[in-house]
Amino acid sequence: MPSVLIKTYGCQMNERDTEQVLSMFLAGGYDITQNEDEADVILINTCSVREKAELKALGKMGLLCARPNAKPWVVYGFMGCMSQSRSNSLFRDIARLDIVTGTHQYHNVYKLCNRLLRNRLAQHITEPIKRGARICAVEHEDGFQNAIKDHLPPSGNCTAFVSIMQGCDMRCSYCIVPSTRGEECSRPMNDILTEAKELVARGVKEITLLGQIVNRYGRDEPIINGRGAFVRLLEALHEIDGLERIRFTSPHPIGFRQDLVNAYTYLPKLCSHIHFPMQSGSDRILKLMLRPYKNEKYLNLCEAMREARPDLAITTDIIVGFPGETHEDYLQTKAAVERIQFDNAFIFQYSPRKDTPAAAMADQICLRVKEERNHDLLECVNRIATARNQALVGTTQTILVEGPSKNNPNRLQGRTSQNKPVIIEGNSAAVGSIVPVTITECTGFTLYANVQQ
Ligand code: 5AD
Ligand code: SF4
Repeated sequence: MPSVLIKTYGCQMNERDTEQVLSMFLAGGYDITQNEDEADVILINTCSVREKAELKALGKMGLLCARPNAKPWVVYGFMGCMSQSRSNSLFRDIARLDIVTGTHQYHNVYKLCNRLLRNRLAQHITEPIKRGARICAVEHEDGFQNAIKDHLPPSGNCTAFVSIMQGCDMRCSYCIVPSTRGEECSRPMNDILTEAKELVARGVKEITLLGQIVNRYGRDEPIINGRGAFVRLLEALHEIDGLERIRFTSPHPIGFRQDLVNAYTYLPKLCSHIHFPMQSGSDRILKLMLRPYKNEKYLNLCEAMREARPDLAITTDIIVGFPGETHEDYLQTKAAVERIQFDNAFIFQYSPRKDTPAAAMADQICLRVKEERNHDLLECVNRIATARNQALVGTTQTILVEGPSKNNPNRLQGRTSQNKPVIIEGNSAAVGSIVPVTITECTGFTLYANVQQ
């Protein structure tokens, strides 16, 4: 039986896309492997959001293709965002590369790879294999978002991602995503509900809804009883028996309405965590980023949600060193971090991306200043996050038990509603169950707990 290996970089959307592609290989009779020497098809699902992510994927593929003892027929391919933006030029970077497929072509990956592998295996018997097939599929396909249905068969996972929309119509000046992922397009609500019910029937307890800007889901649909399509989707999911937890990522201040704030008061399955990218605390920089709102709006939304759900954990994304960012702008970002007291924040140094307006702006910030701001902000974020975690010691939390701890198989690990990882002493609790625990200890970002009897 042939086998396939997929390495995934980037966001949860990419993880979900990888899962869909793997399930098609499984249905075609392939094994899934993590072993590079064993795999007959090797794919990398790529991210373009920062240059570092692209270099990582290119470096990894270069190494894979250069392995002296690799089987001669191995099919090598790039999928996803970097394929979409760099397209054919990737064949120049890596001569041995066979296949490049874009973000609207995930449903064709299996067919293209399998056909090439079968041809090669047949050809191999009579003549040396020609390297570098150079198959490129990056076209847009209508209705492709409805092809995202297949999940991997049950593997005991009690959590799953569900894609509710694709693409993005915002034009943040730093971001490559609108050009890699295309126009915003929502999936029909019934499809999403059917998928969620199927997942629950297989033992899934927690679903994370994925979209570039989830709160804009179905924004052309009417508002009914004050509720927009996204909140109506949350309400409908909430009705599903056996589904215990609902998460979503990521929302945006534009189109974030009171109905979503209110949802935190009457939907108990909605977890007490929101990943809500802030990007900058300076109005001047937000304007240059083409994010059409003031930071005060973002801060007010955070505070309104905390009022609706007092234990809400808020995490965020922040870019430092955006073109033109002064020390004063940076200090405003830091002040916003202090005001909101985030549970965690991912800090990114601005990375110029191809064909984005910010890449052409004057006043690019030098690496030294980006690093200084990154370092300084990280210290601030870590201090706040540690204090917030420390405050949980001695409290009761409910944990969804996800499986054995990675570092110690005699312990279990899970997550709180606030999405904090917790290691549980002993292994008596059942995987997939939701159990009350007492938090006993905290080391920075990991909590330790005992199951309550
Ligand atoms: N440079 C640095 N960070 C970026 N992000 C998006 N584009 C860039 C860029 N060009 C960050 C944003 C986004 C997260 C996924 O990546 O903070 O929320
Ligand atoms: Fe990276 Fe954005 Fe593509 Fe996700 S959607 S893989 S974050 S570029």
